[in-house]
Order: sequence, then C-alpha cells, then structure tokens
Amino acid sequence: MNNSRRTFLKLFGKATVSTAVMPLFLESCGNNPNHISKEDKQAIIKDIIGIQATDKDDVILAEGLSYDVLISFKDNISEDDFFGFNNDFLCYIPLDKNNINDGLLWVNHEYAHALFVNGFIGDDHTQKSKEDVEKEKYVVGGSIVRIQKYDGKWSIVKNDPYNKRLNAFTEIPFNWEKPIANSGVAIGTHSNCSGGITPWNTILTCEENYDMYEGETIYNEDNEPTYKPAKYGWDVHYNYPPEHYGWVVEVDLKTGKAQKHVALGRFAHECCTLVRLEDGRIVAYSGDDKNNEFIYKFISSKPDSLKDGTLYVANTDKGKWISLNIDDQPLLQEKFKDQTEVLIRVREAAKLLGATPQNRPEDIEIDPINGNVIIALTNNYDKENFHGSILKIEENGTHDALDFTAEDLLVGGKNSGFTCPDNLAFDKQGNLWFTSDMSGSKMLKEDGPYFPEFKNNGLFLVPRTGAQKGQVIQVASAPRDAELTGPWFSNDYKTLFLSVQHPGENSSSLKELTSHWPQGGNSLPKPSVICISGPLLENICGV
Ligand code: FEO
Ligand code: CA
Ligand code: CA
Repeated sequence: MNNSRRTFLKLFGKATVSTAVMPLFLESCGNNPNHISKEDKQAIIKDIIGIQATDKDDVILAEGLSYDVLISFKDNISEDDFFGFNNDFLCYIPLDKNNINDGLLWVNHEYAHALFVNGFIGDDHTQKSKEDVEKEKYVVGGSIVRIQKYDGKWSIVKNDPYNKRLNAFTEIPFNWEKPIANSGVAIGTHSNCSGGITPWNTILTCEENYDMYEGETIYNEDNEPTYKPAKYGWDVHYNYPPEHYGWVVEVDLKTGKAQKHVALGRFAHECCTLVRLEDGRIVAYSGDDKNNEFIYKFISSKPDSLKDGTLYVANTDKGKWISLNIDDQPLLQEKFKDQTEVLIRVREAAKLLGATPQNRPEDIEIDPINGNVIIALTNNYDKENFHGSILKIEENGTHDALDFTAEDLLVGGKNSGFTCPDNLAFDKQGNLWFTSDMSGSKMLKEDGPYFPEFKNNGLFLVPRTGAQKGQVIQVASAPRDAELTGPWFSNDYKTLFLSVQHPGENSSSLKELTSHWPQGGNSLPKPSVICISGPLLENICGV
C-alpha cells in the first residue's frame, strides 16, 4: 500500500466524532437517501475494473454499468413547458415512501449556452436582442418532473400535474423580515448549480454565478457602491438588483412554491447541505465557489428553521467558526448598517473577520459513517493549483461546535488518479463518489495541466471496503466538453441518476460541433439526465 493510500484510509476511517452525536438527519442528508445499517457497513465490494481516461464522445462506463437517457434539453414535460438547459443538481423524492418507484425529480438548470438556446454567436453579449435574453431566462432555474420506474426502467410522466418549471421569470419571496434592495420578492432564480435536501422533504437549489447575468454592486474603499455590468447581457433588457440573486432557494416539489433564504448569506453558493441536530435545530453548510472565497455554516436557533440563527465562516487554519452576527462583531458594526447588509455583502464581512481563503469550495457532503464534513475544493488557478483536493472537517463533538480540525482527505494530481473534484455523493455503505470539472478551456490541451493523464471529465469512486478500499477508481467518462454533475441515488440504490452537463460546449458554430451526444450522427448535443444501473452498482452499494 502506498503512503498516500495509507494516509487516506487513516483520514477516512474512524473519527473521534462519537456515534452518540451522529445527526438524526442522515436520511436524505446530502445525496444519501437512506440510513446506513450495520449490515450495510459490513458489505464487501468485489474488485472493480475501472476505466481509463478517454476523449470519446459518449458516456463510457465501467463494465457492469449501463445507462439510459431519462430526459434531454427541450423535451416537453407539459403542454406549456419543456426541460431546461445545462442540468446540474438532481434530487429524487418518492411521492409516497411506500412506493419508491414513483416520485418527483428536481433538476437544476445552471446556465444557458447561447449557441444552443438562441443561436447568438459573439463576444459582445450586450448585442443580444430582448427575445434572445428571454429564451435564456426561460431555460435556466429548475424542473420538477414526475418519474416512474416500470420493468426496471425509469421514464418521465409527461403532462403530469406536478410537472413545472421555475426559471428567471418566477416570482420568489425572501424568507426575511426586511426588504432586500427595496423588495420582498425577487424575479427569478438562475445559475442553479448544486443543492441539497431538507429533513422536511423540500429541496435546496443554489444560485452560483448570478453576477454573470445580473451584474454586481461593488463597493470602493469609502464604502460607496458602483454597478459592474453583467457579462451575458441580461441587464441590457432587464434591470433587476444583483442583491436579489446569490441565495439558497428552497422549493417544495409538490407545490412548486419557492423562497430565498437570506439568513444563509449571499455569495456564489455551490451547494447547501443540512444536518438536523437532536433537538431539531439545523446546521447548513455551504461553499462559495470562487477563487479565495470561503466555507460557511448556519446554525439555527429554532427547530427546522433556515431563518432564525447565526451564520458562521470558517477559519480552517485555526479551526474556528467565526460568527457573522453584527451584534458579536464591532468590525462589522463599523462597516455595515445592519445584519441584512452583512448577509447581502457577506463575502466582505467574512474577509474582514479573517476567514480562510479556499480553493473554490464546491460540493459538501456529510460522511454517513462518522459525521465528518467532506468538501470538494476544485482548484485555484490564481495560485497555480490545477488539481484541487478534498477537505475533511471534523467538528469538535457536534455539528453545532464552533471549533474543528481540518485536513486534506485526498489531493488531486496527475499521480493521484483524479483532478478538479466537484460534486460529491456517499452511497449507503459510505463509499465516496465524486465528479470532476476540468475547465473546458484547458481540457485535452497538450500544453495544459491535465493532458494526457486526464481526458474528458469523469465520475470517480473511492471504495470503503474490499481489496481496493481507499483507491480512486474512474467509473464513468463524460462526452466531449461535458461535465458529469448532480449524482443522486434512487432510494433502493439500484439507480444512480446523473446529469450530463454542457456536451459540445466548445463548439464554435452549429456546423462545427464538438459533440453529438446523446443522439449521435449529426445531431445537436443535448444536456441530459441519465440513469445508471447494473450489477456493478449493486455490488458497490451492497444491494
Ligand atoms: Fe457550478 Fe461550482 O460549479
Ligand atoms: Ca459544480
Ligand atoms: Ca464546477
């Protein structure tokens, strides 16, 4: 066994967090729809033959896995609506817990690629017409789609009354007493990257790179605001306050009703992962996916609240969670007029209080075996860190502790078998699954940091049992230019739902396509959700 694998096993294995403080809410926690039982932990994985990196324009899977396409961009979900673009976070919730094969799938639609959505080509996005922008605003946000499994295969229930779209036109109230930029309601949600699930079976969808579409309010040294325009030109035709975006949005899949949670702070939220404490209070973890931004957690003061409580930011050098409550912090009182302003400008507040800059925090999951908080740090080109790492935070006793230890669980690199970790998921045995997100501008470039060890993006597995425990094994490869996102297991772990996002993203025109996935031939590439199943999945998950 090499040293790095030994170290990993030590880090991954037993934790000092006692089982007495394990969160009650591990059911549906993060990407883990079921509790772990002792028998599950003992299931031993048989040897897996991983795949090699490949540049093939297809979803390539390890032997023992196969896939079906469930739904693709522009597929009709109802008479009024079609499925959006660039699907990311997925969450499946059965309508009735006694029938796990009939339920609602939530799908994030992160952003629009103009070439495939309205045909616009060019660098100056202010030249888009209002109609171009409206097409983009329609295809982002999220989809609620009823799906059912018959004869071992999942399919969507077209025109089901539950089927709905949320997008950049949907009115969404803020869960907060005070108005945000003079309004209690935002128009739209977009830039929905990853997300989470609540113990009360709603979903959380996280607004990440909102500033590309809404611009940003920038403050100078004298604390005076100026407006920085949006990169993608939406603000030429629609003038909404940037402060209305960059939030965690909760959606009730049965009603389609949504709300934006101000108490969790405003930044480029990648995800939001909840833990329910024994007394019902909630701890919510979230990362800010930007170079040198921070990791946050919210601790509620009341049961099942995402409004009443305190937001903290991590100093991972000192192992401290720092309160972002203005009443606790004289430095914040000097700069901000009230807590609402602190939460809107929380990046500035966190920096002022000495939060530790991170290498782009992406997904966060709770290790179901030991309760540790596992965080993907994808990379940091500013610091010439091209491969990223996976960080482990071990809270001091309980998830509402204000001190912790932090250390690398895995470090990416050409020799470690993975790079640029993004979405994470634990299965019910505690095996870690994660996807990679190499930048399209650097992927497959002979003079870039990834080639030839890494080719297309992929899905990786770290088994926790068996002869290969602790190894990083690639089990899926994405089509050209695509990223695999949103892994989510069905409740019986016989299906892994997976998003295939932005295939063919680097195409320069509709005549020069870099991908034709999923339909092949000369077809347009389409972001799609796939269902992966097979004996290998059942072996790994112990079903
Ligand atoms: Fe949308 Fe941080 O990936
Ligand atoms: Ca992501
Ligand atoms: Ca990413």
